[in-house]
Amino acid sequence: MRDAGVQAGWAIVVQGEKIAAIGPEEDARRKYPAAREIDCTYNVITPGLVDSHTHAVFGRARYAEQEMRAAGVSYMEIARSGGGIHSSVADLRTRSEDELFALTLSRIEKLASYGSTTIEIKSGYGLSLEDELKSLRVIARVAHATPVRIVATWLGAHEIPLDYRSRPRGRAEYVKLLVEEILPIVHKERLAQFADVFCEPGVFTVEETRSILDASARAGLGIKLHADELEPAGGAELAAELKAISADHLAAISKNGIAALATTGTVATLLPGTMLFLGRDRQAPARAIIDAGVPVALATDFNPGTSPTVNFPLIMTLGVSQLRMSVAESFVAATVNGAAALDLAETTGQLAPGYSADLAIFEAEDIREIPYWYGDRRCKATWARGKPCHALERANKLQFTASRGDAT
Ligand code: NIG
Ligand code: FE
Repeated sequence: MRDAGVQAGWAIVVQGEKIAAIGPEEDARRKYPAAREIDCTYNVITPGLVDSHTHAVFGRARYAEQEMRAAGVSYMEIARSGGGIHSSVADLRTRSEDELFALTLSRIEKLASYGSTTIEIKSGYGLSLEDELKSLRVIARVAHATPVRIVATWLGAHEIPLDYRSRPRGRAEYVKLLVEEILPIVHKERLAQFADVFCEPGVFTVEETRSILDASARAGLGIKLHADELEPAGGAELAAELKAISADHLAAISKNGIAALATTGTVATLLPGTMLFLGRDRQAPARAIIDAGVPVALATDFNPGTSPTVNFPLIMTLGVSQLRMSVAESFVAATVNGAAALDLAETTGQLAPGYSADLAIFEAEDIREIPYWYGDRRCKATWARGKPCHALERANKLQFTASRGDAT
């Protein structure tokens, strides 16, 4: 993770949807004399950022909770009183698929305008058969409506719905609904590539999480977990046991949890924006996790409750200043390792021949400027699969001519 492979004076040759070549500018000009050029002098080009953890399908914002936390009410207390995830669920259930589609698509365009070209989106504010399927169908429609690469994750186990919580056997009944009724449809209609569970004291126990994810793995879904976000409760250990593709959050991971992840190649996806926004002192022990040899990814966790930011470079700022990662580590975490967390490491996240033409151009002369100008939108353009997905660039008509087979 220490080497981001930074080069100066190189050109990237794009043909169609892929990177055809990368190397010194003179070589590219010699080999591709007819290529249309985009001058990137005094700019930094990076692989399009890979945001491997978002909850972008939701309705209204939850700004009231921020002041409640400032006044001393904790995230879990807000949830217990029917706020938090429950209030997003009540809201989402009132909205149509068309309305959620329009909202989600506009959020994806905003995320892309900060540099992201691959974005994972979770369901999880539906928590009923009908509303989870509605959320996943929204994600499928968004995937068709934007050049940004979208990956769908089913997070039906984001909370126990309030009506199930109030019944004596409600928890078990909800797990049964997830496994026996919702999962088979998610599988049959290929609505998600991954399954995720919020494994946390007060939400899903380790045992409940294991049974939901075992069933999901048997149905062919990849496995992700919200693990050890607020309290250490064996989430990372369970991620290792299940050979999950990623264990996410980990702000409260134990030493045993780190050792367990180091044995499986599971990606540790750290979400420092969430801890910042919740006003918590603790951040994930990124240095210990990296030093144990665990691949670390960074992501926004974009959601209405704990991380309402679309600014991935700001998360990289937090990676450096809060998690004490180097700039190179934060770039690898936001590209190569984010792709690995989505099983896309062979396709995207790197500037290399054969990789998808997923690029971001930043107004910066040195990659260290990207986390440095914190909060500023330095991204000038993004392309996914050779197609522009940054609204400003579309307006400027600075497009690849890939569809005609030319190189740019
Ligand atoms: O990743 N931890 C669980 N899920 C989200 C927050 C959900 C919410 O508060 O709406 C997270 O932080
Ligand atoms: Fe999350």
